[in-house]
Amino acid sequence: MSGSELVKSQSESPWVEYGDLGINYDPVNLCKGFPDFPPPNFVVEALISASKNPAAHQYTRQYGNPRLVKILSKMYGQLIGRPIDPFKEILITIGAYEALLSAFLGLINPGDEVIIIQPFYDCYPPMVEMAKGIPVYVSLKPPADYEHRPVSSAEWKLDFQELASKFNERTKMIVVTTPNNPTGKVYSKEELLEISKLCRKFGTIALMDEVYEWIIYDSAKHVRMASLPEMWPYTLTIGSIGKTFNVTGWKIGWVYGPANLINPLQIIHSNTVHTCPTPIQEASAIALEIEFSRLGKPDSFWKQTSNELQAKRDLIVNYLQSAGFNPTIPDGTYFIVASYQNIDWPSSKVNYTEKSPGDKFAKWLCIEKKLLTMPMSYFYANPSKNEGKNWVRFCFFKTDSTIHDAGRILRQMKLKLNSKL
Ligand SMILES: Cc1ncc(COP(=O)(O)O)c(C=O)c1O
Repeated sequence: MSGSELVKSQSESPWVEYGDLGINYDPVNLCKGFPDFPPPNFVVEALISASKNPAAHQYTRQYGNPRLVKILSKMYGQLIGRPIDPFKEILITIGAYEALLSAFLGLINPGDEVIIIQPFYDCYPPMVEMAKGIPVYVSLKPPADYEHRPVSSAEWKLDFQELASKFNERTKMIVVTTPNNPTGKVYSKEELLEISKLCRKFGTIALMDEVYEWIIYDSAKHVRMASLPEMWPYTLTIGSIGKTFNVTGWKIGWVYGPANLINPLQIIHSNTVHTCPTPIQEASAIALEIEFSRLGKPDSFWKQTSNELQAKRDLIVNYLQSAGFNPTIPDGTYFIVASYQNIDWPSSKVNYTEKSPGDKFAKWLCIEKKLLTMPMSYFYANPSKNEGKNWVRFCFFKTDSTIHDAGRILRQMKLKLNSKL
């Protein structure tokens, strides 16, 4: 017996191999996006309190626990400046993953085109293909001189003429990740307005993956596409409790948007997942109620987390720069991408299987130096994978002590003789 035609057309997610590297070689692990320290107390308490409610141990409403959809409608209603119907305009999902999958399965017809911006979160293309859609790629480009000076993630830009050339009457959807994983780019209002014009012109849905909406640094500002003029009818926005409260194991996500776009996703959800775990939804609602009541105040957990993460970002930037990497300084998320072009490593001598351009370096770094990262080529599709070949992504949502451990390893790196530093 063999797998289905669908499975034959897909390959395993790179997280499986990189997860195994983490287990087999016991490296300092800056690969996957989650903290190596406990979540905040009020979030743990919310789960304890939810678990004491007998009703929270049984199935809840299929499209989302009423308490959770109500707080989400209140919060996002205020944030985007329009009322959101908690029952018709929100769907609770198993993480942002299921929100993405149900959006593609619920809205894409065979042959519909979906624009995906590279570097992308790696599950978008296989999911679009599961829905028999056609991914159409366009790349964010770093500035030409990124090897010679510190670069900000805001300098990774789309060429809007190129983007416009990808739109046509078959363009059903564009996926935009802001703040962006892996570059940390936070799209500006002007950039989102450019994209929004194209969406309205071609009747294209903007699928906004905003799971890192609360992790923002310096003066960057997270702008929600759904709040831009005339964009509500075209926009679906995805969030994740895992990224909102540092509890990635909770795997609760949501998607909000106009009822006519949400309903197809609800139908897919009702026939696949059926309903998400009740205690986790109840706990998510409690934690969101607490945090929403202090939004914008000095005791805001989201604000405090961004401040703490900004210090960690600066720490790792320092280590990377002094080791000879060329990092892009992120404006959001807890990831940092860095080019290793100046690093001297025995590329011709190591013979690990290279599954994607550049992943030999990441394997060498893990196996020989005990530091696990993610090769950036996995965030590009063929034939553009070489655009990510000289880069790796680090997650810095780790204790300072883990970052110092990584720093000690980075300090042992040697520069190439002809390095341009
Ligand atoms: C951009 C992006 N979207 C979606 C997800 C998936 O989120 P969840 O764990 O809620 O399914 C992730 C996880 O890292 C992500 O980085």
